[in-house]
Amino acid sequence: MGCCHHYFANTPEGDEAFAIDASRIVFGAGCLKEAGEHARALSMHRVAVFTDRGVRRHAYVDTVTASLAAAGIDHVVYDEVKVEPTDASFRHAARFATEGRFDGFVSVGGGSVIDTCKAANLYSSHPADFLAYVNAPIGQGLPVPGPLKPHIACPTTCGTGSEVTGVAVFDLTAQHLKTGISSKLLKPSLALVDPAVAASLPATVVAASGFDALSHALEAYTALPYTRRARPANASLRPVYQGANPWSDALALEALASIGTYLVRAVRDAQDTEARTEMMYAGTLAGIAFGGAGCHIPHGMSYAVAGLVREYRAPEYPQDKPMVPHGMAVILNAPSVYRWTAPGCPDRHLRGAQSLGADTRGAAPEDAGEIVAARIIEMMRSTLFPAGLGAIGFGEADVPALAAGAFPQQRLLTNSPRPVGKDDLAGLFRGAMRYW
Ligand SMILES: [Fe+2]
Repeated sequence: MGCCHHYFANTPEGDEAFAIDASRIVFGAGCLKEAGEHARALSMHRVAVFTDRGVRRHAYVDTVTASLAAAGIDHVVYDEVKVEPTDASFRHAARFATEGRFDGFVSVGGGSVIDTCKAANLYSSHPADFLAYVNAPIGQGLPVPGPLKPHIACPTTCGTGSEVTGVAVFDLTAQHLKTGISSKLLKPSLALVDPAVAASLPATVVAASGFDALSHALEAYTALPYTRRARPANASLRPVYQGANPWSDALALEALASIGTYLVRAVRDAQDTEARTEMMYAGTLAGIAFGGAGCHIPHGMSYAVAGLVREYRAPEYPQDKPMVPHGMAVILNAPSVYRWTAPGCPDRHLRGAQSLGADTRGAAPEDAGEIVAARIIEMMRSTLFPAGLGAIGFGEADVPALAAGAFPQQRLLTNSPRPVGKDDLAGLFRGAMRYW
């Protein structure tokens, strides 16, 4: 099998081409006050501003609406987005978008807000049954028929990457599972990334979204390369998650280096502007990386963890119902996964660990999994994160349900550098129960 640094050196077993769907990004402290100018340049006249109640309390939402007003753009705020959205909350947002007859969208918030805005834009631009565009086999997976209305995404956490991806994730409540809609047409027209918003984030939010970004980058970097994914029947069917490729690799390694240097500092000190700014930038880079390459097992497992939570409530998150923040649900699986996937491409696991700051001098290929796991665990401990799935209420008795919940995430699991079956998933959940 061999590792995959030399994409062009060998005849591909699968696809011979990869796509770069570059995002438009504006990045810099204070850039939210440009929102109105960008909206006007995108020919918006009547805008839906998506946010949630928690985010709305912050002055930066007012910065965006004031900027729209100053540009002469009519706007209505929708602040009913749910953290960890559901099919019901997506439908509610879509109804608002349809009834409002908007010609543009601005989202200000974390991944939940940006994803909800993508869905509302989609269903109001191209009305259809809700399951029509949802990923198969849960939905019909029909292609999005054409461009959406312009959408400016303004992330307020450092890690989701949603501002640069064509994916919107939600809980299908009746079936207790997470799924999503994916199409490059869902990608926002512009990511307006203002790192000044990070100063007001609680430490747990910085940690969870930062670990999400870490995992986006490392999953993208260790994903099965595009040269080993089957060639699509037709170029337009090349998946959004196309496998590791030279473009995603470069961004993933850059993101990992920043995250290794700055994540712990950014969590510990809200005044550390340099660290929080670097994390905002790294989150966007990691978003581009996984948006083009795809994630794999840690994300696939995370959806079962999030869906099967019983009592856990994370500090500094809404307390109204049990909820595992997405980045936490991802990273708690990660060390267990990388210990197991490393034999699939040890040099990539070592290089990823090295970028994160691990000492890999003299390491042998068989050490790769342990080295990358140890570095992630060290960062989890330094940010006072839970010690594993056991610390958020899961135990051995939950393993079959967790494995059954993760197994349908085939779109992610087939991107793994090592083929993974249901029994393997059970073993990976067992290995994630307690790290220290
Ligand atoms: Fe994620």
